[in-house]
Amino acid sequence: MKINNSSIKKSIKFLKKNECIGMPTETVYGLAANAYSNTATIKIYKLKKRPKFNPLIVHYFDLKMLKKDCYINNIFIKLFKKFCPGPITFILKLKKTSSVSRIVTNNKNSLAVRFPKHPVARTLLKKINFPLAAPSANISTSISPVTKSDVKDEFGSKLKYILDGGRSIIGLESTIIDLTNRPKIVRLGGLKLEKINKVLNLKLKFINKSFIKVPGQSKLHYSPGIPIRLNVIKPKTNSAYLLINKRNSKNLNFFYLSKKKNLTEAGKNLYKTLREIKKKKYKLIEVEKIPNIGIGQTINDRLKRASYK
Ligand code: TXA
Ligand code: MG
Repeated sequence: MKINNSSIKKSIKFLKKNECIGMPTETVYGLAANAYSNTATIKIYKLKKRPKFNPLIVHYFDLKMLKKDCYINNIFIKLFKKFCPGPITFILKLKKTSSVSRIVTNNKNSLAVRFPKHPVARTLLKKINFPLAAPSANISTSISPVTKSDVKDEFGSKLKYILDGGRSIIGLESTIIDLTNRPKIVRLGGLKLEKINKVLNLKLKFINKSFIKVPGQSKLHYSPGIPIRLNVIKPKTNSAYLLINKRNSKNLNFFYLSKKKNLTEAGKNLYKTLREIKKKKYKLIEVEKIPNIGIGQTINDRLKRASYK
């Protein structure tokens, strides 16, 4: 992707003035601000209508800057070497000397950190001397945005600038692993659990109970605001039907996440399709059964939360 230097410069100007901007990443778009500034990070909570107790992920360019703020360990290094930059977030112990705003951490002694792979995000991060706090760029509990226009739909003119980076290629949030204690997966995401387990030679599973420890992982999340029924074989006539296998019917209510049962492709299309269905004002979403492996696990997790009544 070609980097537009003038838009990078404009972004830096806003960030240095303690403003928030929309930022592309390979997972989803983020609502970014200077992680070292209280003034800047308070604005994130306000814009997103996010409860103050829900801490933010901080985005770094490289290890050098991260080490100023967090302690790292061997497991972190293994995963960093294999997957970074990429769709994985680490919860690490925060250093007392860290400059990260207490607004970002909600006074916790841990910090969620990530190294985005998107070339536009990396170009931006390389040119500034502070990391960027950036939750997904949507109003709390709504669907995460995967394009600049999705971000615009969420905030309208309240957000002063959105840096364009095309469509997010993963389309689902990062996988989160807590390394403050024994490694624990606290959110399924765009990096397959199986890959993490292979590198660590472990059998980590995602346990739903961790929703309680991570406040943002509330059940009603990623919600298009329409009831969702899962594992549907025969859809009702007026519902939007999500599929991952091609069918020999030209039903206008069919929405393909994939036509070849490709779960990575389905993950990329999930949020985009949910937004489209919402715009078309369907009253019910039904979903074909999605295998609970690889990215399928993440898709099922998001659909389950969105369908929670
Ligand atoms: O892919 C992503 O991770 C995207 C892009 C923009 O980087 N960001 C993202 O941020 O999904 P957000 O805020 O929507 O989700 C971050 C989750 C929240 O559920 C939050 O509660 C949790 O991470 N979190 C943040 N700091 C934490 C901490 N110190 N301990 C435990 N959970 C934490
Ligand atoms: Mg989010």
